[in-house]
Amino acid sequence: SALRILERAFSLRKVHSIKDMENTLQLVRNIIPPLSSTKHKGQDGRIGVVGGCQEYTGAPYFAAISALKVGADLSHVFCTSAAAPVIKAYSPELIVHPVLDSPSAVDEVEKWLPRLHALVVGPGLGRDDALLSNVQGILEASKARDIPVVIDADGLWLVAQQPALIQGYQKAVLTPNHMEFSRLHDAVLRGPVDSDDRHGSVLRLSQALGNVTVVQKGERDILSNGQQVLVCSQEGSSRRCGGQGDLLSGSLGVLVHWALLAGPEKTNGSSPLLVAAFGACSLTRQCNHQAFQKHGRSTTTSDMIAEVGAAFRKLFET
Ligand SMILES: *[C@@H]1O[C@H](CO)[C@@H](O)[C@H](O)[C@H]1NC(C)=O
Ligand SMILES: *[C@@H]1O[C@H](CO)[C@@H](O)[C@H](O)[C@H]1NC(C)=O
Repeated sequence: SALRILERAFSLRKVHSIKDMENTLQLVRNIIPPLSSTKHKGQDGRIGVVGGCQEYTGAPYFAAISALKVGADLSHVFCTSAAAPVIKAYSPELIVHPVLDSPSAVDEVEKWLPRLHALVVGPGLGRDDALLSNVQGILEASKARDIPVVIDADGLWLVAQQPALIQGYQKAVLTPNHMEFSRLHDAVLRGPVDSDDRHGSVLRLSQALGNVTVVQKGERDILSNGQQVLVCSQEGSSRRCGGQGDLLSGSLGVLVHWALLAGPEKTNGSSPLLVAAFGACSLTRQCNHQAFQKHGRSTTTSDMIAEVGAAFRKLFET
């Protein structure tokens, strides 16, 4: 009957997508550097998070600590002077620079760039004009040094005002949520998103930005580099807590570095950044799933971050 055909078509598609997911997870496993006693500190990644102001201190903390928990050796936060003592007090493990509201912010961050492997720009940034203008300078300096950048939250607000900032930059990854995606789409493609064609919308936005990698977060995450479209539907939970996106951006900072180190041979011809993004989406969703098993409705981002180690092992080391 028609119903049975439909059911079969559905289950075939589902099997196919599980196989795709498993293949892509294998590519993520290929880019993870082995732990080894001969390496020196810093080789597995020194990540910088640009964000954190008087109002928002949680987001940069979540992003930076997630980078460490995924396996970065050092995690820096470049925030405003008011945010710095607060972020330091959350964690003795982060290196916190109170420079983002300084008139010499760009120079202060630029000094560190030669020692950083990736930047995560936007968590807890806010929309203050002076800060955004400093971040613009930091993005330009990072591009000039070919440093990969993950852009989230109010970093995406800045990109929507000035798409030229990242246009064509092959080492940028944008991680918009639904709202941020619409704003970018409107700014770059000058029209509303076709809600019946999420895959196509993400593909077209990536292409219009010169094949910059775009990760649209949602019930399923849709990822594109202008050529390929991947869907990440690793089981999470129905609980979405504020801060989940910071876990994603922070872990993505590390994975982007690893993926670029590993190179396209390890990713079977797929774009290293796309594979990194798929890894970070899967990990975030797995953390959500595990935290929800334990805490249910009261799950928070801190509970998810506590799951990073176990989730990483389950997905990538089994
Ligand atoms: C690698 O690429 C080949 C050719 O496109 C494909 O058949 C194979 O399934 C891919 N392997 C993985 C692990 O994705
Ligand atoms: C982006 O990728 C598409 C598909 O491969 C290609 O046709 C297009 O020329 C690329 N655009 C840029 C700016 O590289």
